[in-house]
Amino acid sequence: MKFFLDSANLDELKKAIAWGVIDGVTTNPSLIAKEGVPVEDQVRRICELIDGDVSAEVVSITAREMVAEGRQLARIHKNVVVKIPLIEEGIKAVSILSKDGIRTNVTLCFSAAQALMAAKAGAYIVSPFIGRIDDLGWPGMDLIKDIVTIYSNYGFKTQVLAASIRGALHVVEAAKAGSHIATLPYKVLQQLFQHPLTEKGLEQFLADHRKAFELIEV
Ligand code: E4P
Repeated sequence: MKFFLDSANLDELKKAIAWGVIDGVTTNPSLIAKEGVPVEDQVRRICELIDGDVSAEVVSITAREMVAEGRQLARIHKNVVVKIPLIEEGIKAVSILSKDGIRTNVTLCFSAAQALMAAKAGAYIVSPFIGRIDDLGWPGMDLIKDIVTIYSNYGFKTQVLAASIRGALHVVEAAKAGSHIATLPYKVLQQLFQHPLTEKGLEQFLADHRKAFELIEV
């Protein structure tokens, strides 16, 4: 399973890269807006930090404009994946861009039917938003399971990226369901390290070591 960082913040990215577990980055217009830097500049800086897929999202809503914007984003760096919303015009844009060899990440996916359309259009990645479905009181993880099954039934090459992840359990469940990628906010990535028994066990080991060897040294 690939781990992407779901952030446009360079400090978070540098810290996560240092752990050696990050394969790529996803951004969206809200994450870019938080950084207060034009999308092209920020995406270029991200691409300079990591050698992996970096998703950059269009903000147009007609196929013609999305294609033009997508081509411009793809020119920033070879690792840019153009993120396109899962609307009718978006699917049209994905078909055109994928025929041009431009890789796309189809975002705002909330149903298996939508995911089928993304795969048929030649998407490189599809992003089902599990946390936002959970927020409505429905089981978001069922969507990941359905898409993984459908893509495997027909041999679609589109990768399933579990998005809108809220905690470590989402990551584990998405991995069990066979999601190819999980994109994690920095806070969730940190949570993956944590277990109270690890802390407690380490404290005990170090205390035992100190007791045995520091006493001898005295
Ligand atoms: C990633 O590609 C998505 O834009 C992101 O995971 C959305 O997460 P949110 O629902 O926490 O905003």
